[in-house]
Amino acid sequence: MSDIKAIAHPNFALIKYWGKSDVTNNLPDMSSISITIDTLFSTAKVSFDSSLKKDLWVLNDIEQESLGQIKPTMNYLKSFKLVKDFCVIESTNNFPTAAGLASSASGVASIVIAINELFNLNLSEQELINAAILGSGSAPRSLYPGFVYLNKKKYSCKTVLHANTWPLKIIICQTSSDKKLVSSRDGMRISKLTSPHYESWVNNQDNDIRKALKAIKIKDFDLLGEVSEGNCKKMHRVMETSKPPLFYRNTTSHLCIQKIEEMRANGINLFYTIDAGPQVKIICKAQHADQVISEMKSIPNIQDIIEVNIGQGARLTNEG
Ligand code: PMV
Repeated sequence: MSDIKAIAHPNFALIKYWGKSDVTNNLPDMSSISITIDTLFSTAKVSFDSSLKKDLWVLNDIEQESLGQIKPTMNYLKSFKLVKDFCVIESTNNFPTAAGLASSASGVASIVIAINELFNLNLSEQELINAAILGSGSAPRSLYPGFVYLNKKKYSCKTVLHANTWPLKIIICQTSSDKKLVSSRDGMRISKLTSPHYESWVNNQDNDIRKALKAIKIKDFDLLGEVSEGNCKKMHRVMETSKPPLFYRNTTSHLCIQKIEEMRANGINLFYTIDAGPQVKIICKAQHADQVISEMKSIPNIQDIIEVNIGQGARLTNEG
């Protein structure tokens, strides 16, 4: 049988998930809302290999010692048809891995789509979501295009608005390509155990979800910006008040925030979000994108600025 290949894009959370209700099943403690982007992508090429004695995962051309975080996903997928054959999964990212750009979400989503096809599983949407969540709590969101809502109740996931309906720009300011020192998984565990703000963070989430869903529905940019930035700040407060504190933002991220405040004071409509890494993602209206990019270029130590759009969900591909 020939190779099967799938592609998926990272998604950036506007209303974020930080903390798990069930570590074994990797279930988020809260609902979240994200945008799936285009341009950056992960691919997964999968094929059976009769010479293998176990499944093999090759990430960016490096053979991994184990399946690591994708093992629960693979076990779940293989349980459907009691698949006994072993396969090779070759994953690539066209952007830095584990640096706060959601490579695990797009990576896992691409693997789920490819394996579903390779094993001929014909899984339902919910089964694909279940498979993805086992690998990364944010991965189900990369299965879907546009603005995506992952609801904690039953862990359902769906697009709430398609990309072309509200064509915003996302400007990614890459301030470092280093791998994060504390993985999201460890960071969430530490925060849940030690941050004095964890409980209120979880309890306030539904409020932010409601506001963001309303803002997206009526396409109210200012409301979406206000609730998204507020939610991002709350998450970083939880991270930074953990013991030991988790500082994912670096000096350049803070300079970016200052510049964003400056631009906002000068009448540019924009807002930012930052995940478990130092990259700053700016969301703005298309007419402001060029100006935002040129202003951000003036910040010392910015490594790269990438302009992307809201993009498609995970899918099979023939490319490459
Ligand atoms: O899915 P994970 O384990 O990579 O965690 C994602 C956590 C954040 O990116 C910080 C927030 C989110 O909702 O994407």
